[in-house]
Parts: sequence; C-alpha cells; structure tokens
Amino acid sequence: MTTITVCDASGATHVVECDDGVTVMEALRPLDLGVAGDCEGSVACATCHVWVEGDWLARTGEPADPEADMLDCAFHVRPNSRLSCRIVVTPELDGLQVTVPA
Ligand code: FES
Repeated sequence: MTTITVCDASGATHVVECDDGVTVMEALRPLDLGVAGDCEGSVACATCHVWVEGDWLARTGEPADPEADMLDCAFHVRPNSRLSCRIVVTPELDGLQVTVPA
C-alpha cells in the first residue's frame, strides 16, 4: 500500500491508501474527490487532471504525448499538471501530494 495526500477542489485534504499498480485516477475516482476519469484512462477526457505538488513531479515524471496533447485541452493547466490516469502508484510515490483543480 502507498499513501497519497489529495487536496480536493474545495480545499479539503484527504489521506488515501492506494494499492500499488493502480493508477492515481483509479485510486481516487471512487472517492468522489473531483477525479472523474470519464474515459477510464484512455487519455481522451482530462477529467483526471491533477496538480502534482512540491518536488513530486521529479518522481512522477513530466507528461509525454499523448498526455501532453490532452492537457492542452484541459482547464487550469500549470507546469505541474498531470493526468492522474498516467501516474501508476508505486512504493516510490509514498507520500505523493496532488491537488484536484477547481
Ligand atoms: S481518465 Fe480520461 S484522460 Fe485520464
């Protein structure tokens, strides 16, 4: 299990235990925190957009195509934006902090 911290669109913080091997989108979608994951991870909706906080972008990596192209269609994109369906939970991400854009 890997623990990530999520700040939802209302500003509330949630600590979430995730199974390793799932995507961050898959871990967050059932919790109704604002990560919809409408395309179920096929990089076609951007409803799983999150901001990766602090230094964590160095560990999650930067978006590559087609993720970068999809982010061009998203709202509130920042340099630390990622699609959470493209971030696989691993023990190395224990403590990851993400924010769901409003
Ligand atoms: S779930 Fe649709 S782009 Fe991530």
